[in-house]
Amino acid sequence: THQWRGVIEEYRDRLPVGEHTPVVTLREGGTPLVPAQVLSERTGCEVHLKVEGANPTGSFKDRGMTMAITQAKEAGAKAVICASTGNTSASAAAYAVRAGMVCAVLVPQGKIALGKMGQALVHGSRILQVDGNFDDCLTLARELSEKYPVALVNSVNPARIEGQKTAAFEVVDALGDAPDIHVLPVGNAGNITAYWKGYQEYAVPSPQGHAAVSSRTPRMWGFQASGSAPIVRGEPVKDPHTIATAIRIGNPASWEQAERARDQSGGFIDEVTDRQILAAYRLLAAQEGVFVEPASAASVAGLLKAAEQGKVDPGQRIVCTVTGNGLKDPDWAVAGAPQPVTVAVDADAAAGSLGLA
Ligand code: F0G
Repeated sequence: THQWRGVIEEYRDRLPVGEHTPVVTLREGGTPLVPAQVLSERTGCEVHLKVEGANPTGSFKDRGMTMAITQAKEAGAKAVICASTGNTSASAAAYAVRAGMVCAVLVPQGKIALGKMGQALVHGSRILQVDGNFDDCLTLARELSEKYPVALVNSVNPARIEGQKTAAFEVVDALGDAPDIHVLPVGNAGNITAYWKGYQEYAVPSPQGHAAVSSRTPRMWGFQASGSAPIVRGEPVKDPHTIATAIRIGNPASWEQAERARDQSGGFIDEVTDRQILAAYRLLAAQEGVFVEPASAASVAGLLKAAEQGKVDPGQRIVCTVTGNGLKDPDWAVAGAPQPVTVAVDADAAAGSLGLA
């Protein structure tokens, strides 16, 4: 019998850990790569979804957090801090529990989904709601980590990128080679940076002497929400807005790295509107059976937009990462949906309501 051991143990020889490193894990990673039938038909391609909502705290952040908290523990840290639109804080809070550390989180007031707030609370983190946006939270978190004995676990911490690159390894391991195109939502731009690093590392012999695993690297396509699209605009957005609160970010920390991933891979970074995001969100749930949070649907919205623009040649192998679980932000599932019908405990009445009779 084999149980997935978490990304550090599964990819130990490609991560910055030593024999005696105290690994802090919830056995994250090993997430499903699900063939997407409807998206494949629509695009004439072979489309797969990397379902990162299947991670222990419901988002891809766990891959980076196992590395960041492990390194913090190895360095003797007693407390960690992060700025977050919700998922990073949920993940940091859970891994800090595993490590026996104090976790402080800074979130933009009123702009994080209820499920994520609930996670940070129930894992016992210390939450400060900041009168500002994510970018302000990150500025504050950086300053606190410079002045006080608390380790910063945002994706500006290189350990986060190291852990998150394992998602690219998993895609190659599952498909046998890199896809033609990899599509991602872009917020603070850590994840597109991490995937590109992972794909590049798998395409060359490893420092430990392993042969290259893949024969090539994919083109990286990133999508920001239109109201929060600094990389597309070419300048920071002062007051970012979008219903996809996870990617409501106006000045991404890994901006240059994201541009490098785009340019070195021959890809692009574009924007999708909230309307396009919500349409993709509904399509994923209603037609692919995959329930994601709105920000996650930006990748799929972007693929559909590119296909409509004729940018997607048929026959390609495409992976879209869907970054977080739909349960984190269920308001969007309920909003606009028909109200459930109430019936008595009566089979005939129930059958009538269901249209079976
Ligand atoms: N999708 C989800 C669900 C996210 O939570 C995030 C980022 C992204 C996409 C974008 O990834 O920042 O690496 O480009 N969430 C961060 C947070 C900002 O605080 O949870 P990115």
